Amino acid sequence: MAPPKIKNVPRGGVDSPLEFHAGYPDYEMPKQKVLILGNAGQLGRELMKEFAGRGWVVTGLDRAEIDIANRFQVEECIAAIDPRWVINAAAYNQVDVAEREPHPAFAVNALAVKNIAVACRQVDARLVHYSTDYVFDGTAGRPYTEEDPPRPLGAYGVSKLAGEMFAHAYLDDPLIIRTSGVFGPGGLHTARGNFVELMLRLAASGRPIRVVEDHVASPTYAPWLAARTADLVEKGLTGLFHIGGGWPVSWFDFARMIFQAAGLSPELQPTNEREYRTEARRPKYSALSNAKMEAAGLAPMPPLEDALRDYFARRPKESQQG
Ligand SMILES: NC(=O)c1ccc[n+]([C@@H]2O[C@H](COP(=O)([O-])OP(=O)(O)OC[C@H]3O[C@@H](n4cnc5c(N)ncnc54)[C@H](OP(=O)(O)O)[C@@H]3O)[C@@H](O)[C@H]2O)c1
Repeated sequence: MAPPKIKNVPRGGVDSPLEFHAGYPDYEMPKQKVLILGNAGQLGRELMKEFAGRGWVVTGLDRAEIDIANRFQVEECIAAIDPRWVINAAAYNQVDVAEREPHPAFAVNALAVKNIAVACRQVDARLVHYSTDYVFDGTAGRPYTEEDPPRPLGAYGVSKLAGEMFAHAYLDDPLIIRTSGVFGPGGLHTARGNFVELMLRLAASGRPIRVVEDHVASPTYAPWLAARTADLVEKGLTGLFHIGGGWPVSWFDFARMIFQAAGLSPELQPTNEREYRTEARRPKYSALSNAKMEAAGLAPMPPLEDALRDYFARRPKESQQG
């Protein structure tokens, strides 16, 4: 098997691993090499920009360059790059498809995390891995904390929870970040897109749009999730953190906010779980509490309206990039 080709990637303004970051005077930390897996995804794109902007030496690999489900590729690649940190933003996110085809979800969300964790262990690299609000059953009726016991309702959630467990099984101190309803301007280019782009496509079709009002989550803006990931890494924090959008909102209300921010007024109708059946069961209330993140000194997430304003400001530039 041929080793993966590693493209030239944007480097930070600071190349020396001995350069110090000025942001944390009492915890000065050398800038080091970071490898971002899944760098073509919504979050991966933002992580590339965020870490490069902070002066880290960044390498990003997308699916065409490395299949994280391939143990040999992962080991070879991580050994060749020898990063201090590996950030795994790659994932299988097709929640409904995973119900009838669970194997690909397990290959990418669970077994691939084992591959990455083992490879990190071999070169003494630290791991950041992302998980989901769908590890919960949605019965708590309040934002979930890191202490709440997970109980996923479907194959996707089970595969993501298994990924968390593999990270913990092979590494002493992984950083695992659970997030919810990720949307970023990069979603214009990804196969799966995001909820904002879906709403815009439906609005363009001219037909009435029905969105569930009885499911609540914390839609999370990818650039701000990337920034808080970098904050946690630079503070040397590990363990489990929830980083959601900071505002529990129903998908119906989120759709309303999207159309308001986009200056559109399609016919939007509320629906509910009973009327709008999906293959996968989803938690009804899966908002995440950011209390632990905030207690660690990270800035709270700004309001969702600000996130959407920023999204629509960046979107035209993204669409030119192709
Ligand atoms: N999106 C959400 O609503 C949401 C909600 C909760 C948690 N999360 C978690 O947040 C993280 C980031 O999600 P995101 O929204 O940025 O996802 P995304 O936009 O779908 O990006 C995922 C990336 O992973 C790549 N990938 C899939 N299989 C791969 C493989 N075998 N090897 C290498 N790369 C592979 C995808 O490539 P292809 O496009 O070619 O498949 C894609 O570029 C993930 O861990 C996700 O589970 C997301």
